[in-house]
Amino acid sequence: MATKTGEGFSSSFGAIMAAAGSAVGLGNIWRFPYICGKYGGGAFLLVYIFFVIFIGMILMMSEFVIGRRTGEDPMKAYPKLMHHRPGWKFVGLAGLITCFLILAIYLVISGWTLNYFWESLTGTLAGIADGDFGTHFNEFASSVWRPVIFLVLFLVFTTIVIIGGVEKGIERVSKLLMPILVVLLLVLCVRSLTLEGASAGVAYLFQPDFSKLTGEGILAALGQALFSLSVGMGVMIVYGSYLPVDDNILKTSVWITVCDFAIAILSGIAIFPAVFACGQDPTGGPGLVYQVLPMVFNSLGGIGRLFSIVFFLLLALAALTSAISLLEALTQWLSSEKVGRTASAILMSAAVVLLAVAASLSFGDGIWSGFKLGGMQLFDLLDKLTGTILPPVCALMTILFFGWFMKKDDIIDELSNHGTVKIGYFNVFYYFLARFVAPLALLIVLISGLIN
Ligand code: PHE
Repeated sequence: MATKTGEGFSSSFGAIMAAAGSAVGLGNIWRFPYICGKYGGGAFLLVYIFFVIFIGMILMMSEFVIGRRTGEDPMKAYPKLMHHRPGWKFVGLAGLITCFLILAIYLVISGWTLNYFWESLTGTLAGIADGDFGTHFNEFASSVWRPVIFLVLFLVFTTIVIIGGVEKGIERVSKLLMPILVVLLLVLCVRSLTLEGASAGVAYLFQPDFSKLTGEGILAALGQALFSLSVGMGVMIVYGSYLPVDDNILKTSVWITVCDFAIAILSGIAIFPAVFACGQDPTGGPGLVYQVLPMVFNSLGGIGRLFSIVFFLLLALAALTSAISLLEALTQWLSSEKVGRTASAILMSAAVVLLAVAASLSFGDGIWSGFKLGGMQLFDLLDKLTGTILPPVCALMTILFFGWFMKKDDIIDELSNHGTVKIGYFNVFYYFLARFVAPLALLIVLISGLIN
């Protein structure tokens, strides 16, 4: 079904690029490598793969079905499938609020990335001594103006693409950027793997160490699977509403999942072997990319500066296509409330930038770092909410809706493109995964996580 505005992706390829663009982002390149290393490498990977296939991918299919079936934004899609029972709109609303919060924190980190790209270009990073990268990062991220200027710049790029429209903006930019991103990443992988001593990094990433896989690690794996695939908060309902009518939803979801997973693994391969080869600390945590990698680049000599430019460009582009999907979700909702698309995009950007700036000022030793909510600085609170708590909660509501409330005939009809596409083991998928496995796993991990 076409959306009311007539907006949509022109082809399945375009849709896959756009949705993969949403999925591949800071989550893959900045977050995946360090949490994978932290929670036991290969051990974490096994749990992560389980969650990706049995929860993440199932959710992606569900959201695509809900979106394309209704052609509506998440707030209207749920009630529409439930005979217009208005209560269901709160599921969509929870997702949109989550998108808003994710976008705010995403802008802050994307702003840092732009700054590091700039500092690679201008040679500032090359002039910093090894021991000073931690201080450099903290001073920069806790300062008032620089992070804010870069985050606003990043938001301006994002907003321009959204104003361009679904096909001429989002689809076109994703089709251009995704292949560039893969090429840049492969270049970095080759360089990293060919450094002397690289194998220790590969081992760190893949060798399972089950002693490090704690309950917290399992919750992190679930949060990461959902966050990385952009599922649970309705973004894929939005992109689903733009899917071509003849798109094979099962196939498309598998492609996007494979793509997202492959990029996460490649990012680990680009980062850890280089970190080990240069004798740096692999447990750098969230600061790994900004505090440890620049040292690695510097130790490579002149060519290192080029790799530094390439890396931060890669990260910024990946973040851009994800931020686009988040802002699109908010814009689609507002523009369906009779506000024009351009005005909606600008209004939403203006609203989210306020929160992003507040989060930036509260980071580290920033001027608002003394302001605490529930004992946490605003940045840390947002990070916690959007990284581990809200996505599983929203995902649970979505999968319960899909498995237990939505009509099975509607689901079969939509997945099979009105009976024209074979959907083989659908019953297995539906009954065991969407109805039982995914919700139960979500519930267990969530409850155990909250108890801890
Ligand atoms: N999937 C993106 C990433 O991995 C983040 C994202 C989450 C984008 C939710 C949209 C919705 O960085």
